Amino acid sequence: MSGPRPPSLPVDGSALEPRALDAAVHAALTAFAEAGDFEGLKAARLAHLDKGPVAQARREIGALAAEAKAEAGKRVGEAMDAVRAAYLGRVEALEAERDARILIEEGVDVTVPTGRRPLGARHPVELTMQRLTDVFVAMGWEVAEGPEVESEWMNFDALNIGKDHPARQMQDTFFVDPPDGGLVLRTHTSPVQIRSMLTRTPPIYVVAPGKVFRTDDLDATHTPVFHQIEALAIDTGLTMAHLRGAIDHFVRAMFGDVKTRVRASYFPFTEPSMETDFQCFVCRGADDSCRMCGGSGWIELGGSGMVNRKLLIATGIDPDIYSGFAFGFGIERALQLRNGVGDMRDIVEGDVRFSGQFGMAV
Ligand code: PHE
Repeated sequence: MSGPRPPSLPVDGSALEPRALDAAVHAALTAFAEAGDFEGLKAARLAHLDKGPVAQARREIGALAAEAKAEAGKRVGEAMDAVRAAYLGRVEALEAERDARILIEEGVDVTVPTGRRPLGARHPVELTMQRLTDVFVAMGWEVAEGPEVESEWMNFDALNIGKDHPARQMQDTFFVDPPDGGLVLRTHTSPVQIRSMLTRTPPIYVVAPGKVFRTDDLDATHTPVFHQIEALAIDTGLTMAHLRGAIDHFVRAMFGDVKTRVRASYFPFTEPSMETDFQCFVCRGADDSCRMCGGSGWIELGGSGMVNRKLLIATGIDPDIYSGFAFGFGIERALQLRNGVGDMRDIVEGDVRFSGQFGMAV
């Protein structure tokens, strides 16, 4: 293919002149050295490497007589190498400068005081719940959960709580609209017993901490929203001795080396059922005017018992092979006792100064 070359590429051989070439190399090296940033260097590269006199010289070699080509080619090649090396050297230098600058500019002085405002504090109920749960987890039990909006069936029927049981009445239970929709705010964590037995196969060792609801007015000793922790064990050969052993361990982990005792009680879902007390960890029964236990020497903890056979049957567990025990305690009560919180309202109100006393400010 032949034809007139575009005017931008005149081939007069002048760019090949040794002096012209030296000058071009010199100009390129100067331009690269003077480029203070990547943008400047890019412009210099376009002007002196991609285009410019040296590139021009290379193109002019083709027009030379054959015997002059080798020598000119060598000169242009050397010039090109010098320009390219200078360019790459400058790229490296600029990169090194940039890295060094970033290290300084983006460095963080961790010793500078921040004036940071505290965000809040972990709520002591949450902390107590975790502490109680940890006692069980340390024994190898699993944590189980259930929904706070629970079916009436799980909350009552499956637990053998009959239709006419007083706990179902409007004054105790929050019913979810519509009232005949079969949903309640769970009144205890015991429905998690049913859920666990339905979804797991024995041996079952689960602990279920969580929120529960009852239609009580908020006062010094009551709150309509509170927390319980439920323990359930289903295995072969479990007896009341195991139940008492588990409660003993749990109470000791929370309150120190104190005795427990049980009194006969009634819950539809356990048979036999018991109320558990533990020895007052303040006076151990030695102080008639003890404010912790009212002088009785015992503090009431909560309900417990052997899982009613009816529950095992209802959840498909053979009651002739397996037996189990369960207990449930109030978290707020444990917190009140263990940490000397007098008024329930302090627990509920969510004042960060209250939470902060428990040492978990964040
Ligand atoms: N769910 C009972 C309550 O809320 C406590 C309990 C749990 C009793 C497990 C026996 C067994 O009072």
